Amino acid sequence: MGPVGYGAVRTAIVPAAGLGTRFLPTTKTVPKELLPVVDTPAIEYVAAEAAQAGAQRLVLVVSPGKESVAAHFDPNPDLEAGLRGHGKEALLAKVRRAPELIGVEVAVQDKPLGLGHAVGCAEPLLDDSDDAVAVLLPDDFVLPTGVLITMAVIRQRYGGSVLCAFDVPREQISAYGVFTVDDTDEPDVKRVRGMVEKPAPEAAPSTFAAAGRYLLDRAVFDALHRIAPGSGGELQLTDAIALLIDEGHPVHVVVHRGERHDLGNPGGLLRASVDFALKDPEIGPELRSWLLNRLEQENP
Ligand code: UTP
Repeated sequence: MGPVGYGAVRTAIVPAAGLGTRFLPTTKTVPKELLPVVDTPAIEYVAAEAAQAGAQRLVLVVSPGKESVAAHFDPNPDLEAGLRGHGKEALLAKVRRAPELIGVEVAVQDKPLGLGHAVGCAEPLLDDSDDAVAVLLPDDFVLPTGVLITMAVIRQRYGGSVLCAFDVPREQISAYGVFTVDDTDEPDVKRVRGMVEKPAPEAAPSTFAAAGRYLLDRAVFDALHRIAPGSGGELQLTDAIALLIDEGHPVHVVVHRGERHDLGNPGGLLRASVDFALKDPEIGPELRSWLLNRLEQENP
């Protein structure tokens, strides 16, 4: 399924060490990456996306206390034997899916010092063959999956680093990080000149908003060592990318024409759950008729 040969990315980094404050009180004890979309934790969808793009290992960056995010990828022989013994083959397949998807390694971020710092925590686990890494934010669903494969093709063509953007309506742009871009010969590939965080609509340099998928040249780790803490006292990944751009490193964006769910807040998680559940042949039809009835009561 994934790309093979030159350009394929071997290592995907998934930062999952954030505090998840928008999901309190649940995140007192349950990491937000384990909250389900229908019946499957968000982290498993993102691991499946990395595997689909050809990654062979996933470096999960977790904080002390969030080890259960990585434990989701461990086999559970007792549970599997029980399900097998009762002939529950469909459930058995679900339980085995995560451990079989991709090899998982864990890096620990002791303190939530920012997304850039979290990505940097994965560096000691890289080896000489990792000339680029994919970074996937687990609270951002980019659909349909597969944009990392397109991004790998663009990196093969232009070198450097490749990011992912959505073309959002200008009136909504101030919720996002926004790219300053130049056109290339391909309509949905832009050369990045810079980035602004949450601009006012009239001041936005484009309508291309950053999404949580990155294909980063290894040079980003060196840049992460050289940047100072930015907004909120955190080491920002975008500051490291901005430094690379200033130094002439090629950075492009692929404009993804698809859907997105922001799982970082309860409303977004609910929307993703309803979207996925409506497409599920078992629960979709009943949910749909319940929802239609429920909305009818709202607006008779
Ligand atoms: P967010 O800011 O969306 O996640 O970071 P958060 O901090 O967990 O959520 P809130 O704002 O408190 O509700 C985006 C991604 O970066 C990771 C988060 O786990 C999330 O996947 N992250 C962020 C880290 O791994 N470490 C950090 O220091 C900051």
